[in-house]
Amino acid sequence: MIELKNVTKTFNSAAGNVHAVQNVSLKIEDGEIFGIIGFSGAGKSTLVRCINLLERPDSGEVIIDGSDIVKLPEKELRTVRRKMGMIFQHFNLMPSRTVYNNVGFALRKSGLSKEEKDKKIRSLLELVDLSDKIDSYPSQLSGGQKQRVAIARALANDPKILLCDEATSALDPQTTRSILRLLESVNKKLGITIVIITHQMEVVKDICDRVAVMETGSVVEEGRTADVFSHPKMPVTKSFIETAGNIGKIYELIKEDNPLTRLNPGERMYMLTYTSVNTKDAIISYVSRTYNVNASIIFGNVEVLKDIPLGKLVVVFSGEKDNIDAAVQYIRSVGIDTEEIK
Ligand SMILES: Nc1ncnc2c1ncn2[C@@H]1O[C@H](COP(=O)(O)OP(=O)(O)O)[C@@H](O)[C@H]1O
Ligand SMILES: [Mg+2]
Repeated sequence: MIELKNVTKTFNSAAGNVHAVQNVSLKIEDGEIFGIIGFSGAGKSTLVRCINLLERPDSGEVIIDGSDIVKLPEKELRTVRRKMGMIFQHFNLMPSRTVYNNVGFALRKSGLSKEEKDKKIRSLLELVDLSDKIDSYPSQLSGGQKQRVAIARALANDPKILLCDEATSALDPQTTRSILRLLESVNKKLGITIVIITHQMEVVKDICDRVAVMETGSVVEEGRTADVFSHPKMPVTKSFIETAGNIGKIYELIKEDNPLTRLNPGERMYMLTYTSVNTKDAIISYVSRTYNVNASIIFGNVEVLKDIPLGKLVVVFSGEKDNIDAAVQYIRSVGIDTEEIK
């Protein structure tokens, strides 16, 4: 559905050149929910704006549904663009228009009759569950309701693609979840391919089939969400995992030398990461017996990544050094990531 090939975008300013997007290649399949995660300044917004050519790349191809839209003449580009909806962090609604007219504005070039437009607007507002706010003004709505209007507007021209730039970043966690559920149903019911740009790990882990991690303009890691976050390769990916759930806490406790994380001579602390729940208990007791080491679990956490559990256990082993080494080697051999953290 979307293929980026070697897309590069540099901004020239008085302060120097900013390489916002550097040589990014990505393939996003028809009907998937694809996440692009990265910290602020990583180049996510610039990249997503290159997908609908709000930003023209300096070089590279942007292939939508089989054709490179960078090469299209303006008129054809407008047609392709109408098939891509976009929503933003701050909703970008028109304050002087009602909910009805905000959505209707998107249909001004649709060629529909007045009656058809009316029917369309009403059905879109029903889809986003806002039929009762049809005559309200944006200032009378909550953040979540504003984003629902923006989603209805983005869907007005029956897009095949919905681009979401930090669409939940201004919302509280509960509202975020309800917007994500709505996006999920839009994806399932209407078959729309969704690209989600976010700096929030919770968003990616909740809804994205696949994810790309961006850092300083480049995609540094990509794959199925559960794979990327259960076996992160890059430090930036690891730091996102630490922002989710409470597992990052353990590193803080170690840093501040909290009594909970102090070790006695001969003790070593490990972080175990596993994706299948059924093995972990047996493995800890198995290595303890087999290799004659003591294992105490001091911290545990299970995240659910798009239906796949990702478990983290912090275990302190004590015993003979060689025995601990053998135990760790065994745990690694059964596919559990095991990292010595203290
Ligand atoms: N129009 C612009 N002019 C100059 N620099 C820009 C412009 N847009 C973005 N940048 C710079 O490009 C880099 C990437 O920005 P952006 O794509 O907004 O990142 P993100 O969305 O990941 O926070 C940043 O250093 C930003 O300051
Ligand atoms: Mg951004």
